[in-house]
Amino acid sequence: MAIIIKTAEQIEGIRASSRLAAETLKYLEPLIKPGIKTIEIDALADEFVQKHGAVAATKGYKGYKYATCVSPNDVVCHGVPNDYVIKDGDIVNVDVTTILNGYYGDTCRMYEIGNVSDYAKQLVKVTNESLRLAIKECYPGNYLGNIGFVINEHAVKHGYSVVFEFCGHGVGVRFHEDPQVDHVAKRNTGPLLKPGMTFTIEPMINAGKARCKVDRKDGWTARTIDGKLSAQFEHTMLITETGCEALTDVFGDF
Ligand code: MF3
Ligand code: CO
Ligand code: CO
Repeated sequence: MAIIIKTAEQIEGIRASSRLAAETLKYLEPLIKPGIKTIEIDALADEFVQKHGAVAATKGYKGYKYATCVSPNDVVCHGVPNDYVIKDGDIVNVDVTTILNGYYGDTCRMYEIGNVSDYAKQLVKVTNESLRLAIKECYPGNYLGNIGFVINEHAVKHGYSVVFEFCGHGVGVRFHEDPQVDHVAKRNTGPLLKPGMTFTIEPMINAGKARCKVDRKDGWTARTIDGKLSAQFEHTMLITETGCEALTDVFGDF
């Protein structure tokens, strides 16, 4: 598989889908409160996506049944929505991928529920900063590997570890395209970035050990092996002639 350089028309489609994915996460913000079940969060997201003429890419993807992944606390990613009740002090990730007019937009973010410990807040902050640093590496002619290099450098500096078992990915005309975007990488390695590339950066950073284990019952939910917290942010990126655009950062956080 080769990296797909998108046409202007495809970019417009990916931009619109990315905007909707981002708006879904914004819509959820005041609704994710203590007492809500993760399955209820999923239903709200699903309804919002459909109301805007799109479908959630995860529904039916390799047998996955839900519109989102909802990953609280020690869940690293792919949290299957269920009867878990969100409580005060939780940190929760919601990840949504929209298909709008055939184009994909993929994003996730953390929600801090009520009184979150300084320990958890710091993990969320450093994870967010690591994505910000990675976005600074997104310009034509730079090496893809520099994204993973700066993420890992920042996380390790703060005593955290970066998940290496799940990666970012090309996205836009399919859900998962080339290239694979590693969040741990060596400086100046991998393919060179070119205008028209679209891919995600989605670092998962753990407070403890980097390794994950997948829930044996649901086959998806990935947790830290040591039960410590994990955080993640994800944006769909476009490489432009002059730099990049974070297509899912429609609220100017980055
Ligand atoms: N949205 C996730 C990603 O960022 C993929 C979820 S696949 C699922 O790549 F099947 F677990 F939902
Ligand atoms: Co993704
Ligand atoms: Co995602």
